Amino acid sequence: MKTTLEIQKLQQHLADVWHAEPIETTVNASTRGLLNDAGDWDAPIGIKPKRTTIPLAIGIPDSTSLPKEALGAAANRVFNKPGEGAFTYGFGLGYNKLRLQLAENYSRERRFEVTEDWFQLCNGSSGAIDLICRTLIDPGDVILAESPTYMGTLRNFKALNAEVESIGMDSDGMLVERLPNLIDTLLQQGKRIKFIYTISNFHNPTGATLSLERKIRLLEIAAQYKILILDDDAYGALRFDDTPLPTLSGLSKGYGVITVGTFSKILATGLRIGWIHCHPDLLDAFNKMRFAMGLNQFMVRVISDYIDSGAMSDHAHKVRHIYKLKMNTLADALEKHCADYVDFTRPLGGFYIWISLKRGLEAEAVWRTAAEEGVSLTRGTNFFPNRIDDKQHLRLAFSWTDPDQLIDAATRLKHACERVLAGDPA
Ligand SMILES: Cc1ncc(COP(=O)(O)O)c(C=O)c1O
Repeated sequence: MKTTLEIQKLQQHLADVWHAEPIETTVNASTRGLLNDAGDWDAPIGIKPKRTTIPLAIGIPDSTSLPKEALGAAANRVFNKPGEGAFTYGFGLGYNKLRLQLAENYSRERRFEVTEDWFQLCNGSSGAIDLICRTLIDPGDVILAESPTYMGTLRNFKALNAEVESIGMDSDGMLVERLPNLIDTLLQQGKRIKFIYTISNFHNPTGATLSLERKIRLLEIAAQYKILILDDDAYGALRFDDTPLPTLSGLSKGYGVITVGTFSKILATGLRIGWIHCHPDLLDAFNKMRFAMGLNQFMVRVISDYIDSGAMSDHAHKVRHIYKLKMNTLADALEKHCADYVDFTRPLGGFYIWISLKRGLEAEAVWRTAAEEGVSLTRGTNFFPNRIDDKQHLRLAFSWTDPDQLIDAATRLKHACERVLAGDPA
């Protein structure tokens, strides 16, 4: 029998041994490459805001419209339902009823009939992307992606040792006509191109939507070279005018297109329910690569019940209106206060305005000075695979912040730009 003193000595010994072990040698090579990743919304180091910060750095839904009561009522109904479905493991593609509801919605909005077999429920759209990448990517594969793009997915590519080849964008989305040349060059170099990653609607970070002509052209080019398209439709439900847009999966009847979607942006990010939508044959492969013991069975039922109650469509209509109002409030304020310093295009949906700085203003200096003036923004560099942004951009997320604060944020940004131009940056 060991004495308390002996146990304490052992614990001290273990602490000495394990603290001495550097994390770099514990993790694998892929993780090592990610250890110093700055993250998505890093705050500038050493900056003390002069006043309470207005947050324009995070793309999460408006908090006042969160349907807590209706979700609470749905949770209550699920909890009190006879049976244990919500409290046991859920295998396979996920809760059937929610997949049926998704199928109904997609069949209506995308105008081609799909069944629940076209849907796999996942841990948000990022969980969906993770599963897709783990299933499809071999080390050294090339992924073609818009530049800039969502940095979360860039980490997935990096973790699997894929190479990213960038395609530029304008206000109509990816410059798809650049694809054939790029693909030809890569193929001549003996590279294996795995898929084209696009955020075709209400892009993060640029807010751009791929035009109908370009969506069609993208499908034609992808079919010509037989390269899959991964369409990250995280913001697809958030079109300001309520009218469904033509989608890559709708235009192609799902051939050659994998779509990921999520309830994060339309409802709440904490629910963690998203999905993969693609042809059932391919979906089956994704299902084989799922090793966790199913999703949160309670939450899939709560969302399904919430949709059943009819509350979802009213909520979607309401939040689209809120985001349109917020986007226009911020865009008007930027035009009024910052026209000398920034250029931007108003998005048709989603959460973001992407500004390019004028008059030689540097994004890093404006980002730091704006933080000191009391407005947090996201640097454009965070969205480029090599972290280089030649054109000096900042991303402004308007979804979370009150309209009054959005106006104040524009005046603070103006002061920041004035200070940088006057040689007084933070
Ligand atoms: C383009 C894009 N894809 C995917 C995600 C991940 O969302 P979630 O995993 O919450 O569905 C985000 C989150 O910001 C995003 O902007």
